[in-house]
Amino acid sequence: MVLEIKGLRVRYGVGEVVRGLDLEIAKGECVGLVGESGCGKTTVGLSITRLIPERKGTISSGRILLEGQDLLTLDHESLRKVRGKKVSYVFQEPSSSLNPVFTIYEQLKEALPGRGATDDDAVISDLLKSVGLAKIAGKKNIYPHELSGGMQQRVMIAMAIVPRPDLLVLDEPTTALDVTVQNQILDLIMELKNKIGLSVLFISHDLRTIFRLADRVAVMYAGRIIEEGPRKRIVAQPGHPYTVGLIDSIPSFEHRKKRFDAIEGRAPLFSDLPQGCKFHPRCKFKIDKCVHAEPELEELSDGHVSRCIRAKGLIANGAIKGS
Ligand SMILES: Nc1ncnc2c1ncn2[C@@H]1O[C@H](COP(=O)(O)OP(=O)(O)OP(=O)(O)O)[C@@H](O)[C@H]1O
Ligand SMILES: [Mg+2]
Repeated sequence: MVLEIKGLRVRYGVGEVVRGLDLEIAKGECVGLVGESGCGKTTVGLSITRLIPERKGTISSGRILLEGQDLLTLDHESLRKVRGKKVSYVFQEPSSSLNPVFTIYEQLKEALPGRGATDDDAVISDLLKSVGLAKIAGKKNIYPHELSGGMQQRVMIAMAIVPRPDLLVLDEPTTALDVTVQNQILDLIMELKNKIGLSVLFISHDLRTIFRLADRVAVMYAGRIIEEGPRKRIVAQPGHPYTVGLIDSIPSFEHRKKRFDAIEGRAPLFSDLPQGCKFHPRCKFKIDKCVHAEPELEELSDGHVSRCIRAKGLIANGAIKGS
């Protein structure tokens, strides 16, 4: 495994927002982490290299192994070497990650691992071409504001892959872009992933995007994974009422709404989590037992797990269906 997260717990002022999370990513695999706003996805991503804002949040327990090395025990110097080199990030807003006063060329040059080499210009030019920016390859005087949001995000992806990281974390990288550009960027990520065998953690609230990209899908709710499995399996047969609700809210799956209403209500507050299954207040399949104890992850089929005590029965009687 390239990445193994074990028993991760993270606490903010509002309470524990990651409540014991396990996640693994194999070499060349893309794992999609999906869930509604505020469920803890970004917190998981930032925890990997301990980028949780100091004094606001703390990682209270867990292990995060990158190629077997526990990143939570590293000193600051070693951690600095991991950040942006072994683990790279791409965030939602490219404009806030690029420095407006330096040219694209200068910023890419800065990101090169063995910078100062005579072939830097050729490397930067190739890099720009590889992310679909042939138009500006070889140009040294382009500033970030001269590029569209989609082009800026391509630059960010170029910067993220240049150190050949073991793991690329993409946190809502296309959310700020319009749909056509979103699809182009997703295609680019897929192409790079396959070409250079990248391991990717792809974070999004949008299951449509996750289904396009991920080999494996992990669905998060109120700080824990509530379903996880191979994408194909989850598309064919989701194993948690919450996942079914997320699938039904994908616009192109809208015909399904006749069968199953999209999820009602809101995710609970971390300061006031319900007893038992955290989804039960919104779940139309709840029974008394759901209210008392929070379910463990239970295996439905090989590599497919669900934190719903009724999953097997609901699947068997056709109450929750895939597409
Ligand atoms: N800097 C912070 N200070 C205090 N609380 C925070 C901070 N960042 C996050 N939180 C809390 O942690 C919870 C999880 O936040 P996180 O950003 O990980 O969610 P998310 O799933 O990435 O949401 P979104 O889809 O909106 O990006 C939030 O509901 C919020 O209560
Ligand atoms: Mg987030």
